[in-house]
Amino acid sequence: MAYNVIIGRDERDLKIYRDSATTLIGKQYITMGNVVSLGNQILLDALRPHVILIAGKRGSGKSYTMGVIAEGLASLDPDTASNITSLIIDTMGIYWTMKTPNYREANILKEWGEEPKNFPNIKVFIPKGSFERIKEENASMADSPFSISVSDLSSGDWCDIFDFSINDEYGVLINKVVEDLKEDNRAYSLDDMIQQIDREAAQSDTVKDAIKQRFQTAKDWGIFEKEGTKIEDMLQPGYINILDISLYAHALGAFNLRALVIGLLSQKLLELRTIQRREEELSEMSSTISVEAYEKKKRIPIVWLFIDEVHEFLPANGQTAASPALSRVVKEGRQPGIGLVIATQQPGKLDTDIITQSDIIISHHVTAKLDIDALNTVMQTYMVSDIKKYLIDLPKLPGSCLVLDDNSERIYPVQIKPRETWHGGETPKAIPPPKKQ
Ligand SMILES: Nc1ncnc2c1ncn2[C@@H]1O[C@H](COP(=O)(O)OP(=O)(O)O)[C@@H](O)[C@H]1O
Ligand SMILES: [Mg+2]
Repeated sequence: MAYNVIIGRDERDLKIYRDSATTLIGKQYITMGNVVSLGNQILLDALRPHVILIAGKRGSGKSYTMGVIAEGLASLDPDTASNITSLIIDTMGIYWTMKTPNYREANILKEWGEEPKNFPNIKVFIPKGSFERIKEENASMADSPFSISVSDLSSGDWCDIFDFSINDEYGVLINKVVEDLKEDNRAYSLDDMIQQIDREAAQSDTVKDAIKQRFQTAKDWGIFEKEGTKIEDMLQPGYINILDISLYAHALGAFNLRALVIGLLSQKLLELRTIQRREEELSEMSSTISVEAYEKKKRIPIVWLFIDEVHEFLPANGQTAASPALSRVVKEGRQPGIGLVIATQQPGKLDTDIITQSDIIISHHVTAKLDIDALNTVMQTYMVSDIKKYLIDLPKLPGSCLVLDDNSERIYPVQIKPRETWHGGETPKAIPPPKKQ
């Protein structure tokens, strides 16, 4: 008889909550002789934040699975949903399609007893500089503009963006400008920075002009503003908030910019949720704060942060603008209430902290030995069997995977369920599909 498997829920929570606050992500493969069928429902625990690593080679279903998890979190019962929000940092521009129901796979959905679904609780943020253009192309692709507050960037960030060293004369001047502007304790714009450069005495005009010119260029990117987007506005409870930063890939210093956004958001999330968690604990302990007073405050829900192709931002070797803050989220994020759903083609190239900190690993088909070894390091602690053997037995279908659950110390062969919303990012075909008659 089929029963429910709840991934990520420990014994104690299981006793109290049973299968409430969970969401269906797939079904378990059952092998009987030569026959493979789908049995138990695989549910994901949404009561607590988790670090979920999704691995697999290209085309194995990683981005699709991320979408399934986001849909699941946005479909929870209202009580649970009001304490949870998802933030997808979309580095490839493939998630805005979630605003369209998955008509394309209506047949597969039917097999699962589901149908294409419209999610009204999805909000897409587009970098300010491209917002109007994108909205004109297709209004459903763009709900809100996104920009970064100039004063959120450190001098190190600016040097990183412009490829200066923090120790050369350019870096030193930028540092001075930032420090002097910070003294006023007020938000400042790029123009304020340019004016401040002129006020600094020590440096040569050539250095000043070079930096001023960089900041002038930065103005054209339409990314930075005196008062940027408040991250609280991107954390609406019960919502999937999608920040499309793929458009930054075409700006100068593209890679650093995307990493920078991830770094800044990670840092802000940690700050906000740490304060929030302290308040939650205070109210849980004390009877002096009335429930009403507590409810009235603007609350930051538990945040599930989604980042695809994460090895680009948190590599095994070297640093990116995202690494310091993102690495803190990986290591310390769960305690204050930040969950992570991250995907990579190359677990072997990923910072090993991510692998050891993940409490749930969803491994689609991986091939390279390095990558299998990387996954094995997690399993070594409690599994004698080799992941390789499990992977060989796994049906070779998109969306088939192994789920490694550190909470129950178990491993399950699973078929991930079909998406209710349109999956973006399919490779284009030379011949379009035949039209429906
Ligand atoms: N769970 C699934 N059910 C049905 N089809 C899937 C599933 N997962 C992936 N696919 C199919 O496989 C294709 C590739 O998946 P995708 O997630 O884009 O791969 P990648 O691992 O490169 O991110 C999708 O476009 C979709 O057609
Ligand atoms: Mg992908």
